[in-house]
Amino acid sequence: MNKKVILITGSSGLIGSEVVVDFASRGWEVHGVDNNMRADFFGPQADTRWNLRRMQQTYPRFQHHELDIRDRTGVMQLLQELLPQAIVHTAAQPSHDLAASRPLDDFDVNAVGTLNMLEAARRACPEPPFIHMSTNKVYGDAPNEIPLKEMEKRWDYADPAYYDGIRETFRIDHSKHSIFGASKVAADVMVQEYGRYFGMLTCSLRGGCLTGPNHSGVELHGFLSYLIRCNLDGGSYRIFGYKGKQVRDNIHSFDVVQFIWRFIEAPRAGEVYNLGGGRANSISILEAFDLISEISGKSMKYEYVDQHRQGDHICYISNLNKMRTHYPGWSINKDLRTIFLEIYESWMKRTAGK
Ligand SMILES: NC(=O)c1ccc[n+]([C@@H]2O[C@H](COP(=O)([O-])OP(=O)(O)OC[C@H]3O[C@@H](n4cnc5c(N)ncnc54)[C@H](O)[C@@H]3O)[C@@H](O)[C@H]2O)c1
Repeated sequence: MNKKVILITGSSGLIGSEVVVDFASRGWEVHGVDNNMRADFFGPQADTRWNLRRMQQTYPRFQHHELDIRDRTGVMQLLQELLPQAIVHTAAQPSHDLAASRPLDDFDVNAVGTLNMLEAARRACPEPPFIHMSTNKVYGDAPNEIPLKEMEKRWDYADPAYYDGIRETFRIDHSKHSIFGASKVAADVMVQEYGRYFGMLTCSLRGGCLTGPNHSGVELHGFLSYLIRCNLDGGSYRIFGYKGKQVRDNIHSFDVVQFIWRFIEAPRAGEVYNLGGGRANSISILEAFDLISEISGKSMKYEYVDQHRQGDHICYISNLNKMRTHYPGWSINKDLRTIFLEIYESWMKRTAGK
């Protein structure tokens, strides 16, 4: 039997690299597309080359393509050449803060780059599953309208209807998204449309906080990775508003990839899933300070900026019921403490000798 081929964009990034590793270990022929634009967006601390080298050393048959997804002709040629059996699209400008300073680059990468991938797939190979990484920012700041209660170290939903979190049917417009959220809405809806209109097996995964040891976290993106690094380095973490009680649900990139694998095994057309750690993996910034201090033995230095980020969520928890119903074999494997430990150990290794 011929080897199965998978194409992964953003393959040097957090999620992309985890998909590379998983499918390479399953014996697939793995092709990655990445142009290290993360370093251009966020500076040298966000450089992903270390991750590319790691994959090339571990999986010598992994094939890297230094391609920009904005290069429409290049993308079309690559899809024609590879004719993959699965496409996982994770390349993106992922930060809502950064997008405001570079709206054109943000839209070109997130919205137009996604359309380039969809259309190239439709022309070259419309049958394979096409998984797109979307974001919970497609809901804009509308989740902030849910009544909240203030606890000692976190905000939580006051309305029991939201105890399990936010569903995929939550409205996506008439709210402030940030420039990033708006470009991701364009991509998310286009991915659904290629499923509904053209019948392709597409899905948009609306991520909460996706994290893990391979994140090159920086202040503008990857809060947990960055927070843990600050603790390790003794640097000061800046809290932006909401008293530091803002809540995020965190999912390890390993669990993200396990869902991607299950979707590829049994794909559906034009689907949307809220993909996060759910209530069990939710934590506020103040609670995260406590947990990392307990693990590292170092207290957390921080300063408080009395201005929240524009369009930022106060409390966001993904409702995982739809994922669990459609794919009952999938569940969260990595709890919060495991996630913290793995990120902590990874930064220890990466920063050793620097
Ligand atoms: N990490 C999170 O917390 C989170 C949350 C919600 C959604 N998401 C989404 O998941 C996806 C993956 O996120 P991530 O955390 O792995 O991001 P990441 O920045 O770690 O990875 C993205 C990769 O894409 C590459 N890239 C950027 N522009 C490119 C271009 N024009 N051409 C080719 N490659 C390019 C970057 O170099 C980087 O390696 C993104 O779509 C992001 O919006 C992430």
